[in-house]
This record gives sequence, C-alpha cells and structure tokens, in this order.
Amino acid sequence: MAEGAVAPRVVAAERVAAEMGFKKSCIPEVGRLLKLAAAAKPDGVIAESGTGSGVGTAWLHSGLGPGARLVTVERDEELARRAAGIFADDKRVSVLMGDWQLLEQHAPFDVFFCDGGGKRDDPQRVVELLTPGGLIIMDDFTPSPHWPPRFEGEVDELRTFYLTHPDLDATEVLTTPASSVVIGARRP
Ligand SMILES: C[S@@+](CC[C@H](N)C(=O)[O-])C[C@H]1O[C@@H](n2cnc3c(N)ncnc32)[C@H](O)[C@@H]1O
Repeated sequence: MAEGAVAPRVVAAERVAAEMGFKKSCIPEVGRLLKLAAAAKPDGVIAESGTGSGVGTAWLHSGLGPGARLVTVERDEELARRAAGIFADDKRVSVLMGDWQLLEQHAPFDVFFCDGGGKRDDPQRVVELLTPGGLIIMDDFTPSPHWPPRFEGEVDELRTFYLTHPDLDATEVLTTPASSVVIGARRP
C-alpha cells in the first residue's frame, strides 16, 4: 500500500460507522499513530478497548506483524458483530463482545489502545496490563496550556494520573490543533 493510502479495512469500518450512525471512530491522525505503534511490536499482543465499528482496529491491523495478535472488545453487540466481519479472514484478530475486562485473559499487552472501558473506571489496572516497554495510547484529549492540564476549567485528574504515573514514561502529543493523545511506555 502506498504511503498515505488508507487500508481497505479502514474504509470498510468507516462505512459500517456511517451505516450505523456511529460517530466516535478515531480520526486518521490517531489511526496513523496506532499503525506505527502496532508496527513497533511485530510479535506483540496488541489490544483495544472499545472496538466501535472497527476503525481503530483496522488502523492497528494495518501495522500488525505476521507474528502479532490483535484483540479488541466492544460491549455493543451489533457494533462488535459488524466489526468482527471485517477481520473474519485473519486468525491474528479476535473481536470480543462484552465488557473491556474480557481483555484481561489476553494480557499482558505490548500495545493497548484504551478507548472504551478501563481508561476512566480502572486506570491503575490499565497500566498493570502492559508488558515492560508496552505502549498505552489514549486519544480525545483537549490540549491545555496549563500544568497540571485543565479541561473545562478543572484540573484533568485522569490525564494527570497517566502523565505522572511512576511506572510510565508518558507524554501528550497533538494530533490536530484541537486534540491530543496521551502515549506512554511502561518502565521495565
Ligand atoms: C470511542 S468509541 C471507540 C472507537 C474505536 N476505538 C475507534 O478508534 O474507531 C468507544 C466504544 O467503546 C465502547 N465501550 C464503552 N465502554 C465499554 C466497556 N466498558 N467495555 C467494552 N466496550 C465499551 C462503546 O460502546 C463505544 O463503541
């Protein structure tokens, strides 16, 4: 696939999102980061909480090495079913239907795109599910000029938790002028 081209499975997942009126798919700027992260762990276990229609999954898949595995979980039955259809021909991919905690049986993770479940309700567990050197990626933050970062006038405690976690080397990276991701690596 040429540089800049979008993988057919990303297109397929975006089509499912449009058909289902699902508006929470990751943006391409985040998708390219997901592809990079998966490609950096060619024999890794790559995980995603919150499959949605499979757009983020498809970006992760586009960087997936031949020896890697990709597991994603979605609690909405119809979304999970439609997303699973996009990856049905690839045995490296598992689309689980249910709560994000189903991911635990596949841990530890070399890459964890934490996008639906875990990020807010059990952040410490999210960090514990990473391998040493494992990468955590969370999107949809709003850039803040303050430290600690603020959102809607309040200190963003969740973002601060990840950015200052003693087991992580973490930073915040702009994906567009108005949105950012937090990315971190678990210390050995
Ligand atoms: C932001 S969307 C996911 C977008 C997708 N990761 C992407 O990049 O295209 C969040 C998804 O997480 C799902 N979700 C929310 N809480 C969840 C939980 N506790 N367990 C599993 N899925 C959950 C929602 O149903 C929703 O589809």
